[in-house]
Amino acid sequence: MAEAWLMDPAGTEPRSPCRLRPNVPVPPAALLRLGVRHWKLNADDYENDPELGAIRKELGYSYMDIITIRKDAMPDYEQKLASFYKEHLHRDDEIRYVLDGGGYFDVRDEAERWVRVAVRRGDMITLPAGIYHRFTLDDNNYVKVMRLFAGDPVWTPYNRPSDDLEERKEYEHKFLGRSG
Ligand code: LAC
Ligand code: NI
Repeated sequence: MAEAWLMDPAGTEPRSPCRLRPNVPVPPAALLRLGVRHWKLNADDYENDPELGAIRKELGYSYMDIITIRKDAMPDYEQKLASFYKEHLHRDDEIRYVLDGGGYFDVRDEAERWVRVAVRRGDMITLPAGIYHRFTLDDNNYVKVMRLFAGDPVWTPYNRPSDDLEERKEYEHKFLGRSG
């Protein structure tokens, strides 16, 4: 499992780890309870990897593309990163496979704390529809990531608050045990 920990709310440098002192690890089971899934894959072989193929087939991840997030490689770099780091949700699962470099996915836990999930080369992660999250690069300022999607991709972020969206209600019901 990718390493995860509770973020220090007083942290001021988003691209640094922002751990509490002492560190408070968040175990894989706790991430799973939030609906976050993870696989460790062989990034050297992403073009022919049967394990990736099997996951895509099982979960219907028919679409994929590859993007590089780095100052010199992405148009609207600053703007994009700012929007990635705004707390938001999607109406579909967010599926990312890190081929190189790294970054942090922050997800809200059941107590509204930020859980920071460190991803690097070989980490594939799925955030369920309706989970509040955000993304930042780490202090290497570079990631190459495969984006996957079940069907025709929709990347629209809905910034918080988006509590009235059906997918948010479903998420709360399914993963946070809230009724309604
Ligand atoms: C996204 C991530 C970065 O919405 O949260 O693409
Ligand atoms: Ni997102």
